[in-house]
Amino acid sequence: MDFFNKFPAIQDLETKAKKMIPFVAWEYLQSGTGVESLTKKNLTSFDNITLTPKFCKGEITPNIQTNFLGQTYNAPFGIAPIGLSGLMYPQAEIILAKTANKYQIPYSLSTVATETPEAVGPHVNNMGWFQLYPPRNKELRKSLLKRAWDSGFRTLLVTADVPIPSRRERTRRAGLSAPPKITAKFIWEGIIHPHWTIPTLRRGFPKLRTVATYSEFKSMKSVGEFVAKELGGTLSWEYCKELRDDWKGNIIVKGLLHPEDANEAVKIGMDGIVVSNHGGRQFDGAPTAIEALPEIVKNVKGKTAIIFDSGIRTGLDIMRALSLGAEFVLLGRAFIYGVAALGKYGGDHAVEILMDDLKNNMIQLGIASLDDL
Ligand SMILES: Cc1cc2nc3c(=O)[nH]c(=O)nc-3n(C[C@H](O)[C@H](O)[C@H](O)COP(=O)(O)O)c2cc1C
Repeated sequence: MDFFNKFPAIQDLETKAKKMIPFVAWEYLQSGTGVESLTKKNLTSFDNITLTPKFCKGEITPNIQTNFLGQTYNAPFGIAPIGLSGLMYPQAEIILAKTANKYQIPYSLSTVATETPEAVGPHVNNMGWFQLYPPRNKELRKSLLKRAWDSGFRTLLVTADVPIPSRRERTRRAGLSAPPKITAKFIWEGIIHPHWTIPTLRRGFPKLRTVATYSEFKSMKSVGEFVAKELGGTLSWEYCKELRDDWKGNIIVKGLLHPEDANEAVKIGMDGIVVSNHGGRQFDGAPTAIEALPEIVKNVKGKTAIIFDSGIRTGLDIMRALSLGAEFVLLGRAFIYGVAALGKYGGDHAVEILMDDLKNNMIQLGIASLDDL
């Protein structure tokens, strides 16, 4: 199929994804929190950043290869960790890990993924990042990190911006629960979404397979409850420092917006930070990440690696974030739209859209190198 003409942009994948998956999965993916003003602002705040093109430069061959934290990636973007990815499409983690390996970009596996590090690791080669929701229990932490390391993940993202799960009213209204309640609506949704239902029946209903191996968590009722009880609420700068004992690779703190937090991360020697508002899912009163970025760049650029996420949907958005001083970016929903819309072809197609759009816009702007931003 000619994906490029049928789905030329991430927004086309979004439209298609909405049709292809059950309502509850869609609402979980799209959910912000509160009145959801931040999820909207995350998208619109990019519009205020303009880049003035320069012309008459002859032929331009854009180079988007990026050296970042000791690794060469084929693009300045990677796949953000998405908990419960398998709810949107069974084995989405494995599909996206394969995409990342094929295009040599990083794939981040969430602690609350539906596939384990052991299952995903072999597909990511050396392109895997592992995301940690910080366990209260240090033995659990050690075990999770050892499993990720032994499975081939070498970069650790520790998520700071979930002090407790947010209320996510939209997800609640949609009635997400684990195990799912078998209602007439649930069955009907399954019947009208065979693209989702058939592979889901084959794989089994999504569960948090990484943490389910710890027997005491097997009866957990929901992601929210589990994260609240065992995987959050204790993160401190001291805790981040302690992670050095359990992790030999790079450590990146994900979810900072305040310049003083960025300073603190530098002070304790973190290798990188992700300027992010968690895709607008945690605190509706927060600034957009793109608004927060310049001040953080002013404070810590050159002292720690700066990654950006929240709201990126296009190659142009990637350029905008890089032009404000980010060195690398992550996208969450964009890749899940791809997989939800097109199954095993969706991750690759999302990457192709973004790479093509990025290169095209570099030529429009008149630059061959991302450094020129
Ligand atoms: C459905 C969903 C689940 C997410 N799960 C996690 C997670 O498990 N861990 C984490 O650190 N961030 C998680 N995030 C946040 C993403 O990693 C990323 O910060 C966010 O999606 C970026 O915004 P974008 O979706 O606009 O690209 C999640 C986001 C979404 C949309």
